[in-house]
Formats: sequence, C-alpha cells, structure tokens
Amino acid sequence: MRNLIDILDFSTEELQALISVADDIIENPDRYREVCRGKILGTLFFEPSTRTRLSFTSAMMSLGGQVLGFDNAGSSSVSKGETVADTVRMVSAYSDIIAMRHPKEGAPIAASAVATVPIINAGDGGHFHPTQTLTDLLTIHRKCGRFEGLTVGVCGDLKYGRTVHSLIAAMSRYEGVRFVLISPDELRLPDYVKEQFLGSGGCEYTETCDLEGAIPELDILYMTRIQRERFSSEAEYERLKDSYILNKSKLSEAKPTLSVMHPLPRVNEIDVDVDDDPRAHYFEQAAFGRYIRMALILFLLDTKGVDDRRQRGEESDSLVCENPHCLSLSERGIKKLFSGGRCVYCDQRARKI
Ligand code: NCD
Repeated sequence: MRNLIDILDFSTEELQALISVADDIIENPDRYREVCRGKILGTLFFEPSTRTRLSFTSAMMSLGGQVLGFDNAGSSSVSKGETVADTVRMVSAYSDIIAMRHPKEGAPIAASAVATVPIINAGDGGHFHPTQTLTDLLTIHRKCGRFEGLTVGVCGDLKYGRTVHSLIAAMSRYEGVRFVLISPDELRLPDYVKEQFLGSGGCEYTETCDLEGAIPELDILYMTRIQRERFSSEAEYERLKDSYILNKSKLSEAKPTLSVMHPLPRVNEIDVDVDDDPRAHYFEQAAFGRYIRMALILFLLDTKGVDDRRQRGEESDSLVCENPHCLSLSERGIKKLFSGGRCVYCDQRARKI
C-alpha cells in the first residue's frame, strides 16, 4: 500500500507517469468512467476547502466510484475529542482510500501509521500540500512542456504557504531549476524548507521583496494568498495583506511565454484585469486538479502489493518538536519520532528536554 504524504514519496518517474495518465484522461474521459465502480473515497476535511475537496469528489465520481466524509471538524466526532488516529482507523473500515486535510502539521503521517487504506495528504497546516503540487506540475508540463531549466518566481506568503513548500520540494529534483523567492521579510520561506531543498544540494535561489524587478526573468510566476488563518495577530495580517497585487501593467515587462499560476482562492493578490491575459493560467490550473487527482486515485488503488508504511525516524523521549502547530504536541498516544534532529511529522527542528 502506498500513501501520498509528501510529494517526495513519489519518484520523478512516477510523477511523469501520473501526468501521462492525466493527459490521457483529458483526451479520453469515457475510457475511465467505470474503472472505480464499487470503490469509496473518504474525504476527511478538518479544515475548510473548496477546490481540493470538490475536485477529489469530482475525480472519484468521474471514475465511477463514490465518496463519503465530512467537510468540517465540527460535524465529526473530533468535536467530541476523538484523536486523528481513531477517526482515521474507523474511516479506513468504511472506504478504500482517504484524502484528508488537517490544520495541524504532520496529521497525515499519524493517520498513515494506523490506516489500512492509502492516505492522501490534502494539506496539513502550513507544511505541505502535495496534491496541489500534482496539479501545478501537470499545469507546468502542459504549458511549458518541461520542468528542467525553468526560473520560477513564488510570491506572497512563503512562510505559511504550504503549496509553495511542496512545489519547491518537487521542482528541486529537476536540472537547472532556479527559484526567485518574493515576499515581505516577515513572510520569508522557512529555514526547514530552504535547508532541505534549496542551496547546496538543492536548486539555486535568490530572495527579494521586489515583485516588479523580478518579473522579466521569470518563466513561471506562482502567486499566493497571505494565509490569514495562520497569523497569530490580526494587526500583522492587516499590515501585510496587500504586500503584492499583480495587475496588467506589472506584466508589461514579463516574457510573452510567462505562465501566471495561483493555487486559488485568490483574495486580491491578482487583479481581475489579469484574468483575460493569455498568460493567466490559474483557472485552467484548478480545472486540471480533477484529472491529476483521478490519475492519483487510480495509482494508489493499484499499489496494494507494495507497502511503504515504514516507520519514519526513531522514537525518542528526550526530544520535543519546536513547532507549536505540530500534531505530535497535541495528539494523545502519538509516537514521538525524529530523524537527523528534525521532527518526522512536520520536518521542523527538535530540541532536547
Ligand atoms: C491552497 C491551500 O489550501 O493551501 N488552496 C488549495 O488547495 N487550492 C491555497 C490557499 O488556501 O491559499
């Protein structure tokens, strides 16, 4: 059994195979209409979602399967104090595959330790969002025809933006990719992402707060929303929320082949006057999410012989995760696991106790 917790759970060959299946689904949707008949997808959304949950639902229905689940923690037994592990153990018995989103970082790893069906991480706090990255990779592949050698600008909330973290992890495996990290100082990319995927051993990068100055060199401009729900201070959010607003005039110096992407929802970081620019690909990107998730469901339902439920890292009682948003600090009965001084659940540094 395979899971998708982190985009690096899949090799670049497997990602390419998923993209090819998604391309085939787009061309020949009728061939896939019955292939998941009798199968059930569980969607456990402990945090709000529109596109991700609905595209998973649409994906499973388009394959002939069915869907059950909840779309907010309030309507599940979590509101009675149930752990993530117990909830997932139960839903494993009612479904063949589970897509879950949780506000705590590392929740999908805790889930995969007890699940008897494949677990898909549909977003864990400000950590990772690998299925958005699948959508992004399909979009980049269809629009640019390659991953190698691209200069990718990521702009906005790089601190809490989980889609950016997973995109950087994925793109760091392709030759010649360069990142331009565009953010206010307060919302710079966290060290744990930089240390793992950028600089020596990863891809080249530069950091700037100047969007307009960066635009001319970019092949991809990946805009993101300032993640209001992850701020501890509303005043800080108010101060930073309009840091970047992309509009038509700022695109005047961009390459004609630029691809403007955004995981959506947009607040006001892309002006609506950009929507009809031929380089604006974000709505198509959202539409591609359905097809790549169909390919993902097919892939995971077909890997029953393989077991990747290895224990990640080693158990330790003398270390504690430093990340206040990590599930390992709040979930009862969870094994405290660490690898190379980092928490296995959320990848952040651990300290001695
Ligand atoms: C993103 C997310 O949930 O992280 N949305 C999505 O899944 N398309 C981006 C966001 O909420 O800003």
